[in-house]
Amino acid sequence: MATKSPLLAALLVLAVIMAPHGAEAGKELPLAIISGIVPCSAGNSINAAVAPPFPNAAMQMVCGRVVMASGMTDRSGMYTMKMGLATSSLLAPLLGNQCKVVVITLLAVCNASLASVTGTLTASVQLLGIDSGSGSGILGGLGGLIGLIGQIVGGLLGGILNIIPLPFSTV
Ligand SMILES: *[C@@H]1O[C@H](CO)[C@@H](O)[C@H](O)[C@H]1NC(C)=O
Repeated sequence: MATKSPLLAALLVLAVIMAPHGAEAGKELPLAIISGIVPCSAGNSINAAVAPPFPNAAMQMVCGRVVMASGMTDRSGMYTMKMGLATSSLLAPLLGNQCKVVVITLLAVCNASLASVTGTLTASVQLLGIDSGSGSGILGGLGGLIGLIGQIVGGLLGGILNIIPLPFSTV
């Protein structure tokens, strides 16, 4: 996510938590979705476009200690996980940078040479934006993010809330 300031992030989290729960009860919360490619590689900030893909890898979206979604990569290492509606219980940990994508399947499964790698493929995530049907809206910096959160908690937006993973690292 674009937020550099921890204080600002904390304020955003607070705004989401304190927001009237109209959106929860509401009509048009966006559906939160995360998708990406898992590399069959070890290292730091792995470039998934260059690394070989990790097919049939079991994975989870974890926020804090809560598993928010599970999924599996396809033959090309691609995955999509649906996290349900973007309620404040999902948005708050997202904005607090507490969410990550974790690959459960061991790296040795896709490449026996990686059996000695200690650590788990893990990627932080960021909010990308809303695709409400009329083309995808990439967030325009922090102002855009604040506006987006306002609209979500206000229950004004339907559509898809895209969450994208940052590059994987073995940690
Ligand atoms: C398996 O991993 C090793 C060590 O990183 C690498 O040299 C090799 O190219 C990988 N093999 C495949 C098929 O990706």
